[in-house]
Amino acid sequence: METYLCPKTISIFFIFLMMGCHIIHCSVTYDRKSLLINGQRRILLSGSIHYPRSTPDMWEDLIRKAKNGGLDVIDTYVFWGAHEPSPGNYDFEGRYDIVRFVKTVQKVGLFVHLRIGPYVCAEWNFGGFPVWLKYVPGISFRTNNEPFKAAMEKFTQKIVGMMKSENLFEPQGGPIILSQIENEYGSQRKALGAEGFAYLNWAVNMSVALNTGVPWVMCKEDDAPDPVINTCNGFYCDKFSPNKPYKPKMWTEAWSGWFTEFGGATRHRPVQDLAFAVAHFIHKGGSYVNYYMFHGGTNFGRSGGPFVATSYDYDAPIDEYGLIRQPKYGHLKELHSAIKLCEPALVSAEPDTISLGSNQQANVFSRKGVCAAFLTNFERNTAARVVFNNRHYNLPPWSVSILPDCTNVVFNTAKVGAQTSRMRMTLTTQLNSWETYTEDLSLLDDRSTLRAMGLLDQLNVTMDRSDYLWYMTSVDISPSESFLHGGKKPSLTVYSRGHALHVYTNGQLSGSAYGTRENYRITLSTPLNLHAGSNKIALLSIAVGLPNKGQHFENWDMGVLGPVFLENLDQGRMDLSKQQWTYKVGQRGETMNLDSPNGASYVEWTEASLFNHQQQPLIWHKAYFDAPDGNEPLALNMRSMGKGQIWINGQSIGRYWMTFANGDCGNCHYSGAFRAPKCQLGCGEPTQKWYHVPRSWLKPKQNLIVLFEEIGGDVSKIFLAKRRTATVCTDTHEHHPSVLNWHTESDGDKTVVHTTQVHLNCAAGESISHIKFASFGTPSGTCGAFRKGKCHAQNTHSIVEKMCVGKGRCKVKVSNSFFGTDPCPNVLKKLSVEAVCDVVSNATHLKLN
Ligand SMILES: *[C@@H]1O[C@H](CO)[C@@H](O)[C@H](O)[C@H]1NC(C)=O
Ligand SMILES: *[C@@H]1O[C@H](CO)[C@@H](O)[C@H](O)[C@H]1NC(C)=O
Ligand SMILES: *[C@@H]1O[C@H](CO)[C@@H](O)[C@H](O)[C@H]1NC(C)=O
Repeated sequence: METYLCPKTISIFFIFLMMGCHIIHCSVTYDRKSLLINGQRRILLSGSIHYPRSTPDMWEDLIRKAKNGGLDVIDTYVFWGAHEPSPGNYDFEGRYDIVRFVKTVQKVGLFVHLRIGPYVCAEWNFGGFPVWLKYVPGISFRTNNEPFKAAMEKFTQKIVGMMKSENLFEPQGGPIILSQIENEYGSQRKALGAEGFAYLNWAVNMSVALNTGVPWVMCKEDDAPDPVINTCNGFYCDKFSPNKPYKPKMWTEAWSGWFTEFGGATRHRPVQDLAFAVAHFIHKGGSYVNYYMFHGGTNFGRSGGPFVATSYDYDAPIDEYGLIRQPKYGHLKELHSAIKLCEPALVSAEPDTISLGSNQQANVFSRKGVCAAFLTNFERNTAARVVFNNRHYNLPPWSVSILPDCTNVVFNTAKVGAQTSRMRMTLTTQLNSWETYTEDLSLLDDRSTLRAMGLLDQLNVTMDRSDYLWYMTSVDISPSESFLHGGKKPSLTVYSRGHALHVYTNGQLSGSAYGTRENYRITLSTPLNLHAGSNKIALLSIAVGLPNKGQHFENWDMGVLGPVFLENLDQGRMDLSKQQWTYKVGQRGETMNLDSPNGASYVEWTEASLFNHQQQPLIWHKAYFDAPDGNEPLALNMRSMGKGQIWINGQSIGRYWMTFANGDCGNCHYSGAFRAPKCQLGCGEPTQKWYHVPRSWLKPKQNLIVLFEEIGGDVSKIFLAKRRTATVCTDTHEHHPSVLNWHTESDGDKTVVHTTQVHLNCAAGESISHIKFASFGTPSGTCGAFRKGKCHAQNTHSIVEKMCVGKGRCKVKVSNSFFGTDPCPNVLKKLSVEAVCDVVSNATHLKLN
């Protein structure tokens, strides 16, 4: 690997000092143990935060929270389709201001992994590719194809060039220490054979030739040629090894949860299992872990992939709204501190594995004065008592204990000491004075339509300018047809390749059908009300995000491709597929930009109260509202609506859909191998009823909300809520291992205090207003539903109250002496507390004084 002489002058040198650069050579290289930053091996903890999935005013806070959570690196994909909406027309503004994002990470003092792709998958529309790319003559995606390679090279050069000109690569004094080319290419390459290999080699040569001065990685590509590092993505990566002994073992996507699809339940990954996976990876020699996602955020606009919900929360340590999710965040923060205590041993020593039992082992890193050990119990159901270095250790099922000095346990992945938070949505604004505008289907067939014989591919017509495409045709019915004289009604059958479909006959809705992420295809059969003479049939085909993965997904067709036929006519079946169809892209309201403040003033809106629109489809609604006070995150409750899109002041909040979660919300236990369907939440509820409204999109007064409803719903029940922490809890045993107990004495010796301390923290600007529950003894239950046990120290409540009420954060010890008495000798006790946080107001200040 090359090293670089730092360019530039004094001020840059200052940044190096601040970033811990002791030598003038600034570089990022690697060896078999880890990445080396300025010559130093590092254990690096990273988290994915995708800049377009939040707003620029949220970025710094998110990155600071990531830093406080113990991360060193922020990882993001680069979203080509967002940046180049048409060839050569670039957009790097607002949420797409990638330079500002990288500079914000730099300002906070973290590194960046820039995953350029430019194929990113990411549950993003078209996998991150712009749709126009499909129409470049002769193109074939992600293979040895000249037009594709030319376009990919041009965009990669563009991004690298921008970063270089802003001095953002580490050798230039910037934060970028790593870049990714392609994404999870392995399976595609295998399917493509020689062409796949040729493309892989080309991609490596192309990217290395860009001379960024930092290493390139390829994830899930076992054959990544040198000098590119192949890396692992998955729920676990302990079994992964890089393809050369001189490459470090890196995990580019440790899945913190899973994405939500419309029609599915939300997914949860217990933090005990995530921490287990990470600790296990580190003691197997891993030196880089990136959480995918650390903050998932929101798929604003139409940016989500097929059936991907607007919320991309991902059960990440920072929730969709930018609030800390506990105990996930806190437990990982402690894990990160524990790993950092082991870093000197991890980067210098070779691991030694010692069996401690049939399903237990120690992994020891010991060398010249440093020693760190990880004790693992692989049993799914039983705890183990093991002997290591002549001492006894208790290991809960499916857990790793971390011993940064090979003696004292500072962390166990299954013992959660971090506080738990329960969130609540508080109604703040009922939206009212709605006005409506109904799409007029009689105007559909105007001069702007396209005519063709037969059925066309939806994307080929819309070019993704809209989710909606109308397919229209007509059928002539003879007055002699028997159904007009009491016979059986004719029925229409439509085969569509997705994703949703509404059938209109002579302007009336006759039927609807929906695909799923697993199966886009739809077959709809519905009886039609036809009359003698010419009848208009209009099929509204709706896209819910373009494919983001799959072999040559650019060639997948979609929409109504037939056959379409009528049955029960006197002639039998009438095939409509090959006859003349007319096509119209989008709704009239879209053409008139009704979603924007200017467009909304062009049409005559009707006061909603003047007619009952509840179950009518294809209606635009608008209302105005003032911004709620405070700075808590906001969300719209859309439970009373059907399916459509929402805009506020012209900004798209995203697609909404009250489709119900079909899933198995059975038992969820942290132990045992995790899979995406394991821990589902919210079965039988709408997949997503809350929609994030970024504060920065609001002005103090008169905000315009516009929504387009496809099916029908009751706008009078829509409301805006603030997302707040309802209560915070702790539930911690005596003798809980904790990094917080680890102290370095002035002479450099480490000591461990064995009294457990727990912390309760409210969000910034809030303080604990009262204690709902507190018991030191043997309480049971979980946060929100604690109960006293047989053993209970009577004064727990008053002591915790005295320590905590009125404070933004407080510390309580879990010990007999702290509560002045041992309520039940020889019993292992714990402290359970539930505290309520409230916004600090002048009133509470007064009360305290
Ligand atoms: C990549 O570069 C190597 C070394 O310069 C060269 O031998 C090889 O032919 C190149 N491969 C491709 C596909 O360009
Ligand atoms: C859509 O357009 C592409 C590119 O022009 C073409 O290859 C493809 O056959 C079209 N698909 C359909 C179903 O017409
Ligand atoms: C607290 O009181 C001061 C002075 O009366 C006032 O200026 C301030 O806005 C109040 N703050 C809150 C949060 O109510």
